[in-house]
Formats: sequence, structure tokens, C-alpha cells
Amino acid sequence: MVNVSDDAVKGVGKVLNDPNRPMKERFRALFALRNIGGQTAINCINECFTDESVLLKHELAYCLGQMQDKNAIPVLINILEDKNQDPIVRHEAGEALGAIGDTDLQSLLEKYQNDPAVEVAETCQIALQRLKWLKDESINDKSLSKSLYNSIDPAPPSKEVDIEELTKTLLDENKSLFERYRAMFSLRNLQTTESIHALAKGFQASSALFRHEVAFVFGQMQDERSVPALIQTLEDKDEHEMVRHEAAEALGSIGTEDCTKVLKMYLEDPRPVVRESCEVALDMSEYENSPEFQYANTLLTVTS
Ligand SMILES: [Fe+2]
Ligand SMILES: [Fe+2]
Repeated sequence: MVNVSDDAVKGVGKVLNDPNRPMKERFRALFALRNIGGQTAINCINECFTDESVLLKHELAYCLGQMQDKNAIPVLINILEDKNQDPIVRHEAGEALGAIGDTDLQSLLEKYQNDPAVEVAETCQIALQRLKWLKDESINDKSLSKSLYNSIDPAPPSKEVDIEELTKTLLDENKSLFERYRAMFSLRNLQTTESIHALAKGFQASSALFRHEVAFVFGQMQDERSVPALIQTLEDKDEHEMVRHEAAEALGSIGTEDCTKVLKMYLEDPRPVVRESCEVALDMSEYENSPEFQYANTLLTVTS
């Protein structure tokens, strides 16, 4: 937690909750709140779940999970249980609960592991297996749960490092999503051309949740070698919007000229989640290409 006055935190919260602000500014405010942490930041984030933007709301839930603060649990439970929220938002709430990893959440996650929204059901199945893994693993192996990318992943990387073996597991539709995620994160950590090609094959998986995670992982890697697969995904109008959104954001974090060109083409996409993602992604790529110190610098702008 960063030591910042309550008023300053609330100032950032105002930016987040202001529907008249451009989406990219509200995202910056959200990331600033995530970095500050604490109850006031959680309250400001919670307030925003009444917003119209599915994209913004799913990111609220993601950030609450990454904050690793048990005080966010009641907020996340409300969202997971609220059938009026979009499945993308509920999915992210389920994943965030898994990321916080409190074993008391087991029965709640069990309740939703067969939710009619498949994105939600699959997320809860993975989160349940993560809870079980946290319970079973020795202290040493628990260090695996924090990734090289400073994120808390829905599953730890597999210990396997053979690309062929990992690819087999990644694409095996008979294996659990948790196991296949473990292969995915291990391939990510290898960072070779072969492992990137293997990951791209994951876009053929039947689960949209799985495909969106592949795009997310490419965003973390920020490796130009994944750009063709990401562009293909964003351009596929039949693809689930959650996957196209994640492909857009990954392209933004890679930020080459090819990436920005294609992102600009989808700024008017009929699906709000896709077009808002392109807007935020272009903002991220601007940052990637500028000497600014921190992406989420709203706090500095608000307090100065
Ligand atoms: Fe997600
Ligand atoms: Fe996302």
C-alpha cells in the first residue's frame, strides 16, 4: 500500500467514476487506485460497478484481484453473484477471488462452477483448482503463483519445460483447463519463437476463456513475434468479444506501428468492448513509446 492522503485517493476515484471522461483516463485512474491500494481505493473501485462499460467493469474486478486484499472479497462476491452483470465482468470477479486465494471461498466457487454462463463456470473451475493447489503445495512451490510479470495468474506455470510436451497439454481438450493453463504459463515463461508459435495454436481451442487467456499472455510478453496471431484474432468478427478485446490490448502493449495501425481500424467497431479496448490500447501504446515513468500517472496529475 502506498501512503497517500484519503482526499487524494478520492480525487483519483472521481476520475474513475466520471462517465464524461475518456475511457483511457478512467483506466489510468483505475491503475493508480490499484497501485495505491487500501480501503478507500477499494470503495472508489466498488462505486464504479454501476457504470455502463463492460470493459471498464471487468477491469475493476481484475484490479481488485491483483491488489490481493481480502477486504475486496465482499465486493467481488457481489459481482460474481449478480446475474445482471455481463458474463465477462462476472468471470473476472471469479478469477479475482481465485487470485486472492482464500480457502473460505471454496463453497462459493463450487456454487458457480456450473453456471449457465460458460465463461463464469470455467473460471470458477480453474479458481477452485488453484485453491486446491495452494492448499496442497509446499511453501517452496507456492512461489510459483507470482509470475515473472508481477501478476497473480489463474494457475501456476507447469514445471515441464519441453515445448512439445507443453504443446500437447495446451491443446488437449480432454485435460482440465487448469492443467492447460499451467502449460500456457510455462510456454510464456520460455519466451522462444517455438513457444510463441505453440501459444498461438491455443487460439484454436474450443473455450473462449482459454483463447482470451492466450491473448492476455501475449500482452504480458510484449513480443513482436506474436503480432500476426493477435491481428488475426482482433480482425475475426466471429470471435468472442472477450478474446478480441484481449488481443487489442495485447497489441497496444506491444505498440509497434503495425499494432497501432490495426487498432485504429477498430476504433469504431460495433461492439463497445472491442472499440473501447482499442482506445485504451492505443493509449497504452503511446505510453510504451514515450519516456513517461509510469502508465497510471493519474495520481500525479490529480495532486499536482
Ligand atoms: Fe479475463
Ligand atoms: Fe480483459
